[in-house]
Amino acid sequence: MTQALEIKDLHVSVEGKEILKGLTLTVRTGEIHSIMGPNGSGKSTLALALMGHPKYEVTSGEVLFKGKNIVELEPDERARLGLFLAFQYPLEIQGVPLGRFLWAVKKARFAPAPNGQPDKKADAKALSQFRKDLQEKMKLLKMDESFAQRYLNVGFSGGEKKRAEIVQMHILKPEIAILDETDSGLDIDSVKIVAEAVNQLRGPDFGALVITHYQRILNFIKPDFVHVMIDGRVVRSGDESLVHELEAKGYDWLVNDAKAEVS
Ligand SMILES: Nc1ncnc2c1ncn2[C@@H]1O[C@H](COP(=O)(O)OP(=O)(O)O)[C@@H](O)[C@H]1O
Ligand SMILES: [Mg+2]
Repeated sequence: MTQALEIKDLHVSVEGKEILKGLTLTVRTGEIHSIMGPNGSGKSTLALALMGHPKYEVTSGEVLFKGKNIVELEPDERARLGLFLAFQYPLEIQGVPLGRFLWAVKKARFAPAPNGQPDKKADAKALSQFRKDLQEKMKLLKMDESFAQRYLNVGFSGGEKKRAEIVQMHILKPEIAILDETDSGLDIDSVKIVAEAVNQLRGPDFGALVITHYQRILNFIKPDFVHVMIDGRVVRSGDESLVHELEAKGYDWLVNDAKAEVS
């Protein structure tokens, strides 16, 4: 069944300052959308607001996911519903090994213990399956197995943090994933590895919003729709050909258009 993330006339403020100024966009399963835009246009604000970061206040507009208004939901509730965010700046968490973290998030998403009563036998079986899955996913992202024992993102290079986000996406199997500049800080080989891992999830039950500043990753993840965001609004939407137009012309022509529209 097709599911959708519907963003309607969304206004978001951060510390009293309006950053998103009426953004409308629908992402369905089976579709890959890309949001491109200059630095500071509000791309990360959109990503964090969609996931429910408490600092990003929705002042008006709606966000529906699977037909349900999610604006008042906690981030973990949104994740359980099947929404996922790969952070532009993944946090380091001391004392929490990556493998254990992923096991915990997987259980939280798919198998919450009924009435808080853990089923030890089922858990052990699921854990052994999970270990196999994790090995496979880490291989896919070309990460050494030893990363599973290391504390979450602690001492990881920028590229390793981004790959760990994509491993997490594979474990969580979201219906709609938001990737916030997953390509930034990656060398070209890593971009290809990450893109391939995203492409592997492509299909009728998966949709994504690929946020990027550069067109490079879109050479490997072909978007169905491309949107340009400037100053908290989508100012232009199109198909993949828009990526090449931006590559040739930059963002300035659209910045000027956007200014003309407002004044
Ligand atoms: N937590 C925050 N506190 C203060 N200002 C913020 C915060 N997050 C974003 N902003 C401001 O919002 C604007 C958009 O930022 P951001 O969403 O990160 O843009 P992008 O991801 O497109 O580069 C910037 O002017 C930025 O300084
Ligand atoms: Mg950003």
